[in-house]
Amino acid sequence: MGITIERKGESFVAEIDGLDLSTPLSNANWSTLHRAYLDHKALIFHGQGLDAPSLSRFGEMFGGISPHTVRKYRHEDIEGVTILSNRVEMGRPKGIRDAGSHWHSDYSYREIPANVTILYALETPAEGGDTILCDMQAAWETLPEATKIRLDGLQHLLQYRWCSNQNHPESRWRLLSEDERRETPEVTHPVVRTHPETGAKSLYVFSGLTSGVQRILGIPDDESRTLLDAIFAHCQDPKFHYRYKWRGPGDILLWDNRCTMHHATTDHLPADKPRTLWRVNTIGDKPI
Ligand code: SIN
Repeated sequence: MGITIERKGESFVAEIDGLDLSTPLSNANWSTLHRAYLDHKALIFHGQGLDAPSLSRFGEMFGGISPHTVRKYRHEDIEGVTILSNRVEMGRPKGIRDAGSHWHSDYSYREIPANVTILYALETPAEGGDTILCDMQAAWETLPEATKIRLDGLQHLLQYRWCSNQNHPESRWRLLSEDERRETPEVTHPVVRTHPETGAKSLYVFSGLTSGVQRILGIPDDESRTLLDAIFAHCQDPKFHYRYKWRGPGDILLWDNRCTMHHATTDHLPADKPRTLWRVNTIGDKPI
């Protein structure tokens, strides 16, 4: 069977048919998949039958695997596979119940963030638990010229789960162990990032709590707040978004964190609608 690639979103996201990701890909098939990844920024596959080692092997094609910051969510045999689940087994959560129902880009709070995120579905509810993606290259390209000139070259300061309210139940002070806090120091990243493979620019600053954005550096605090609010509001425009409704077990959704952000919708997903996914991230490059 041949490979077909069909664009699903307005500016990004494609569905690929005709590839079995459970076995090693030929050079030609990898090159087709990788080209599609760069061109469409996010890819959808259906009917895949992977186990944790084969998912991890597929991830390694994009780069070195980067295990999740919070250790208890790692798969017990393959630490690079993170479990996302709203199931509770023997009184304990089976995985991360909500991996981020807010806008973020994976591991943006690290010095070297993730490039790819791969989600593999083990079980999905008939309704709910969609994943929303945002095309940050399109968001950048549609900004007014004066705003682009203002933003380009600026850096921002962030720290995992930094939150002005330290009592917030999901702030770093409450959620992380001492070791995890030590491993997630403050970092700075550009507000506008140049993709290392395509050369395209994208906005690279995220409003979600896990991203922990504190401020834009080198400008007064109030100006930083105004600029951040304006960027976050601009990215809310649905024309930059694609909402993926999980079809069932064997679905794969993967995306390029260097030019997209994403938003889970699992914060209110009830336990009687079980959703279990495995996630793999690979190490990317220092944003420039
Ligand atoms: C994530 O934010 O990495 C996971 C998204 C989802 O669970 O839909």
